[in-house]
Amino acid sequence: MLTPNLSYANLKESYLFYHIAQKTKAYLEANPDKHLYRMGIGDVSLPLAPAVITALHEAVDDQSEKARFHGYMPECGAPFLRETIAEYYQKRGVSLASDEVFVSSGASDELGDLLDLFDKSNRALIMEPAYPAYVDANTMVGREIVHLPSGPDDHFLPLPKEGLEADLIYLCSPNNPTGAAYNREQLSQWVAWANARGAVILFDAAYEAFIEEDLPHSIFEIPGARTCAIEICSLSKTAGFTGTRLGYTVIPMDLERNGMNLNAMWVRNRTTKTNGISYILQRGGAAVFTEEGQRQIHDNIRIYKENARVLMAALDELDIRYWGGKNAPYIWMQCPDGMGSWEFFDKLLNEIQVVGTPGEGFGACGEGFFRFSTFGDPTDTREAASRLLTLLKR
Ligand code: MLT
Repeated sequence: MLTPNLSYANLKESYLFYHIAQKTKAYLEANPDKHLYRMGIGDVSLPLAPAVITALHEAVDDQSEKARFHGYMPECGAPFLRETIAEYYQKRGVSLASDEVFVSSGASDELGDLLDLFDKSNRALIMEPAYPAYVDANTMVGREIVHLPSGPDDHFLPLPKEGLEADLIYLCSPNNPTGAAYNREQLSQWVAWANARGAVILFDAAYEAFIEEDLPHSIFEIPGARTCAIEICSLSKTAGFTGTRLGYTVIPMDLERNGMNLNAMWVRNRTTKTNGISYILQRGGAAVFTEEGQRQIHDNIRIYKENARVLMAALDELDIRYWGGKNAPYIWMQCPDGMGSWEFFDKLLNEIQVVGTPGEGFGACGEGFFRFSTFGDPTDTREAASRLLTLLKR
């Protein structure tokens, strides 16, 4: 008889955002007249930039004519998009060869798929609170996880410390869910630590476009990162591609372990396991990096930042402690009156129809905290902030 992957028995019964979606669906079925103010999952509410829409339309038209039609795309990404992304890095002083850039179907897919590169015996270090897919993807393959909790004392930015050992290190900066972002000196500590052990950093840079302060957008701004890091990026939050799906991953040629080159291994993996990303989407993605595209996506980001400002003003008025909201599209707040995070979730859903994400879903040390996404509809966000004020001032 076939033996299924027994590691699945070690997963929580359902994935965090699926669980929340089920809870909110049940609430709406029981209360069909209610409107929900959705600030839970980080799903964008603004449409794609006009420059992207134009490029997508043109690419569809290309597919209608024999001379401009595209069949299978190169598995690692279209050269025009790989070059465009390498130029985007160059503007920030990071030199990459275009074949160090891999076009992907999005960061969440890629964060799971990349685990093919690493032996199951490696230990994965996950700083918590963390995006729950890091833990779940490693649990699925039966890998040992080293949980590194963080909290207000270290500003949710843990650093290497005595006694800590791991082979695969997850870093997300700006962080989901806390919104905290590492500075150069702090990231340099992680790079030195990884290089000293031959470990590999998986750097999740999905939120780099939200950085306002003088902080690194890429791990490759840190000297030494080319020999120890892979960077995973996404157009989901940067350019509203959550439903369109497109991302990219950087694997430097210098990244080798046991005489094996990880870039070459990923080429081997992609050429076997994918037939590339659709031509149409890659054209749309390339438009994000044009001058016009960049201006338009930053117009949208400014609207999300205004949502953040509205929510932060409400929390300030309520004298509630929070993190994030500045360099990241998430606000991480302390639950009021010592409430548990699921208890607070239920209270907001039932009493003011506001949906957020309980901190416990991001790891045990997230208990007592709560996350708001700032990607919601601006009118809904203002109403949610006002409902929050009324409820918690009572
Ligand atoms: C989140 O809400 O944490 C993200 O939107 C989830 C994701 O990117 O998959």
